[in-house]
Amino acid sequence: GQIPVICIDGPTASGKGTVAAEVARRLGYRFLDSGAMYRITAYAATQAGLIIDATHEARIAELARALPVHFDEGKIWLHKQEVTNAIRTEEAGMNASKVSALPLVRLALVDLQHSFQRLPGLVADGRDMGTVIFPNAPLKVFLTASAECRAERRYKQLISKGISANISDLRADLEARDARDANRSVAPMKPAQDALVLDNSRLSVDEAVDQVIGWWRARQ
Ligand code: C5P
Repeated sequence: GQIPVICIDGPTASGKGTVAAEVARRLGYRFLDSGAMYRITAYAATQAGLIIDATHEARIAELARALPVHFDEGKIWLHKQEVTNAIRTEEAGMNASKVSALPLVRLALVDLQHSFQRLPGLVADGRDMGTVIFPNAPLKVFLTASAECRAERRYKQLISKGISANISDLRADLEARDARDANRSVAPMKPAQDALVLDNSRLSVDEAVDQVIGWWRARQ
């Protein structure tokens, strides 16, 4: 449509969430954290006692289609329960990755994701924003970083929150999640053909944000 969308896709812990949210803030655009939708779906499925596998695909998709999710000033609600922190654990990320490989679940979340495209514009963060959800977006960025950098960032995040962690376990987990996300049959994680690839291994948040906004201005 006419409403501009900037897509920022990339692997786990590449910094896309932080960069996308800051780009949105600076431009005064809305922000779509599509990963949160998969995380919440997985959380809701687990709470409903459903094992996340193909046998339960239809039932989990049903849950996803009617997800009573509410995003409010950085907080995320599932019906009346605040799940902001509960969906951020490594386990929740791994469950989100499992749920997101189920094609009916992906389909069930399309309308909800499209509903974020409103004026004055949207910054959308995920794995398939540029390839599947907003294929006509005028700017698509694929934000990467080496596995070593990503594991180190995740490690520092956890330690700063007082959560104990082990760098090599974190690295193994994020590589397993990337492999699943990149190799699934529906909407695999990959750069869109017209995506600009940005390696975030050695950039500060501000440098990455400036680069994305620079590309955006160059297109106007
Ligand atoms: O970005 P985040 O780590 O929150 O995403 C959690 C999981 O959700 C990813 O590992 C991926 O499997 C899935 N996801 C997806 N498509 C998106 C966003 C996230 O499949 N657009």
